[in-house]
Amino acid sequence: MLKDNFGRIHDYLRISLTDNCNFRCSYCMPVEEMEWMPSSKLMSKEEILKLAEVFVGLGINKIRLTGGEPLVRKEFPEILEGIAKMGVETTLTTNGVLIHKHVEQLKSAGVRSVNVSLDTLNREKFQKLTRRDQFDKVWENINLLLEEGFRVKVNAVALHGLIEDELCGFVRATEKLPLHVRFIEFMPFAGNHWSSKQVVTANQMLELVKAEFPVIKLEDLKHDTAKKYQVPGFAGTFAFITTMSEHFCSNCNRLRLTADGKIKNCLFGKDELDLLTALRSGQEVVSLIEQSLSKKHAALGGQFTADYKKADPDKMENRSMITIGG
Ligand code: GTP
Ligand code: 5AD
Ligand code: SF4
Repeated sequence: MLKDNFGRIHDYLRISLTDNCNFRCSYCMPVEEMEWMPSSKLMSKEEILKLAEVFVGLGINKIRLTGGEPLVRKEFPEILEGIAKMGVETTLTTNGVLIHKHVEQLKSAGVRSVNVSLDTLNREKFQKLTRRDQFDKVWENINLLLEEGFRVKVNAVALHGLIEDELCGFVRATEKLPLHVRFIEFMPFAGNHWSSKQVVTANQMLELVKAEFPVIKLEDLKHDTAKKYQVPGFAGTFAFITTMSEHFCSNCNRLRLTADGKIKNCLFGKDELDLLTALRSGQEVVSLIEQSLSKKHAALGGQFTADYKKADPDKMENRSMITIGG
């Protein structure tokens, strides 16, 4: 069992399959400086499955595949199949544009839930944000997932100046569609030019939604990242991921494996241990995993809570979001 010094049991692993992506969202990717990792540095399919197996042996029971964009990884089908066979809840976070090519495979691997990143319902804004004219395809694929019976969560990063006009549109979309929309407070990562001025907090967003809709609070589960709400009678829900204004670290159950095989014990901070090099040189990796866990901080989310407006993202040593996988 993977228990840290604060008694938190870690049973959820996020594996990044690649740092590559077919979109170019600036909040995620330092476009100017971005160089893809050379393939020799990436975990191979076999190495991913080997490491996943070790984690499952230690008590991991949920694995989320992330990226970059996980569906651009050529061996995605084999990796998914291999992981699904390990008997853990298997899921993914995707930008959605390639989903139609993988729906059957997701179903046969037993995937029940897919998280799709979508920050706007406006085609022009979508193109500006992602630098790709693919809104229609993503929306079509979200509907396809719903038709095929998947539980679909939509992740919308709440950027000031953008999200204010989107909130009610997304909430309205949950009237007929059983979508679970999550508005995510904008977080600082290397190269994403984060500034406190661009953060819109969950409370601010909730007020804007309440101005248009009656709203009820739903019950959250212990390990949920999101605080859930619903408009009475609507098919779907909406929620806020409050990393910046009210962290949820005391219930953290997550570990991360980057595409280059480093274990990260937190979304934030620079603590990393190199599992891939250890694996390649025949060393055992369990003790490295335990070591990583023993160094996990009580909380690195919400480090801006007291006065997040004064936060200095340049002092936060971390990777870019695209090389972490969320
Ligand atoms: P579920 O398993 O469906 O609850 O999804 P998830 O929230 O774990 O994963 P997803 O990939 O959809 O991430 C949505 C947002 O939550 C992203 O912005 C992530 O960076 C953020 N997030 C996910 N896990 C953590 C975490 O452990 N800590 C913090 N602070 N944020 C997280
Ligand atoms: N702040 C908050 N969320 C982010 N994501 C990517 N970059 C950021 C950021 N800077 C979200 C994406 C994706 C999820 C894994 O993380 O929208 O859905
Ligand atoms: Fe866990 Fe770190 Fe996220 Fe807090 S910020 S919930 S400790 S991953």
